[in-house]
Amino acid sequence: MDGTRTPTKAPVLILLGPPGAGKGTQARTLEAEFGLIQLSTGDMLRAAVKAGTEAGRAAKAKMEAGALVSDEIVTRILADRLAEPDTAKGVILDGFPRTTAQAEALDAILAERGQQIDAAISLEVDDAEMVTRVSGRFTCAGCGEGYHDQYKTPAKPDTCDKCGGTEMTRRADDNADTVKSRLEAYHAQTAPLLTYYDGKNALHRIPAMGAIDDIARELAGVVHSVRG
Ligand code: AP5
Repeated sequence: MDGTRTPTKAPVLILLGPPGAGKGTQARTLEAEFGLIQLSTGDMLRAAVKAGTEAGRAAKAKMEAGALVSDEIVTRILADRLAEPDTAKGVILDGFPRTTAQAEALDAILAERGQQIDAAISLEVDDAEMVTRVSGRFTCAGCGEGYHDQYKTPAKPDTCDKCGGTEMTRRADDNADTVKSRLEAYHAQTAPLLTYYDGKNALHRIPAMGAIDDIARELAGVVHSVRG
């Protein structure tokens, strides 16, 4: 997989970046704008933990410690979700892959479907800002829309702009200590994927310290460049 890329109607996009880089925020925007499907392994794992499945029980302690869940568990969850028919519209992978083993497994899964990665987009941010972003984050329990105490507040306090829900939640792993471990895991295990995807001529680096809407516009440009 190198050299010339053929435009596709159902792109496979990867969002890379440390915790708080804005992967989920931007994935939801791309989903709404382009009809792509957001596949967040973090959301899938949190659902598994909540449901008390075997995978969820195995993942819980790792997530609470800010460490990565095993490649085997995460790859199985992602492969099962990718097998569902709605993914034929094209997907945005948010939080997967996070290790070279996961990236290789993804290549194999896509090859079986006659697909390949169209773009791996790295949201480039400073570590210090990430602690502020993650510790101020809250989410609508109804629709999953993400907010921030300073950077993205709902128009009406405690009421979701998108669905009108009034229950907001905060993640158990969004505290300063766990964010530090998550950042360490990112640098040690996930950052090498930038070289991996650069070698496949698929890497796009987007500065992501600016305004959410400006970053969304840059991301939309990447989607237009790979879509047929
Ligand atoms: P996961 O849920 O994927 O968490 P993460 O990678 O740590 O990323 P976050 O969800 O914290 O951040 P984000 O980049 O989506 O930022 P957001 O858009 O919310 O993973 C959680 C855990 O699950 C992992 O630690 C691991 O244990 C496990 N896991 C998941 N996938 C795995 C895998 N593949 N392998 C192994 N383990 C796995 O933005 C953050 C905040 O900032 C929001 O409040 C937002 O409103 C605000 N914001 C966003 N953009 C901006 C901006 N430009 N300016 C100002 N504020 C902004």
